[in-house]
Amino acid sequence: MDTSAEPPTVGYGDLVLIYIDERRRHVVRVEEGRVFGSDKGTLRLDDLVGLPYGSRVKLSTGVEALVLQPLLDDLLSLAYRRKSQVIYPKDLGFILYIADIAPGKRVLEAGIGSGFLASVVASRLRPDGRLYSYEVREDMASIARRNLETAGLLDMVEIKVADVRRGVEERNLDACLLDMPDPWNALESVYEALKPSARLVVFVPTINQVERTVVGLERHGGFVDIHAVELMLREYQVKEGSVRPATRMIGHTGYIVYARRV
Ligand SMILES: C[S@@+](CC[C@H](N)C(=O)[O-])C[C@H]1O[C@@H](n2cnc3c(N)ncnc32)[C@H](O)[C@@H]1O
Repeated sequence: MDTSAEPPTVGYGDLVLIYIDERRRHVVRVEEGRVFGSDKGTLRLDDLVGLPYGSRVKLSTGVEALVLQPLLDDLLSLAYRRKSQVIYPKDLGFILYIADIAPGKRVLEAGIGSGFLASVVASRLRPDGRLYSYEVREDMASIARRNLETAGLLDMVEIKVADVRRGVEERNLDACLLDMPDPWNALESVYEALKPSARLVVFVPTINQVERTVVGLERHGGFVDIHAVELMLREYQVKEGSVRPATRMIGHTGYIVYARRV
């Protein structure tokens, strides 16, 4: 915990969030001589060094911007490369809760994809937990590696380019998270790796996959307390005298199936 009385200030090498308005939010690294540019004007990043986060600055055109410290949410949505389908915030929060992700836990994941779920999990495992991520595609593993490095989380994750269906090396793990097309084919690997009582959490985009996963879990016999859920999130447009749901929403992401290993 940062207990210093002084608010943090911008330094060379920092990632900063330049917030101009709701649609113009940019994560950039502060490097000597670098100039940030947008349709609203430019900004010399050298001029930010030493400013407290939260400061207001002026772009070359006189338009105001805020200099903020990026949260993990900003990095995922603005700085990460996305080469696969990724897990969205509404599902990420529930997955962390139901899998009981906490500091010190040892967790299995497959596949890592772009590393969105891995990043959120890894950030909650600090300081002494470990995420073991199995990924069949080397190109996906390298994108995830780069994204995790951007967030400073790569040291928390062991990425293995391997097929989770062929078995895993780890044992007595605290949780397992599967986001892959055929999770029902990985159940024996998960069963071997998880410690009794621990949760398996599966994310799948179609209801057909939900059925195959639940039937697979029941037939396997090593899992109990099986649930399938879908979460919905609706943003509100709040103006004085006119409060209503926003016109657009993300209508579908996927389903979450969870169970306990016995
Ligand atoms: C939808 S992506 C995962 C996205 C990730 N959860 C995220 O939030 O960025 C699915 C990934 O699973 C990987 N995959 C598919 N089958 C696999 C298997 N049998 N073992 C390991 N990884 C697998 C794919 O290559 C792909 O990268």
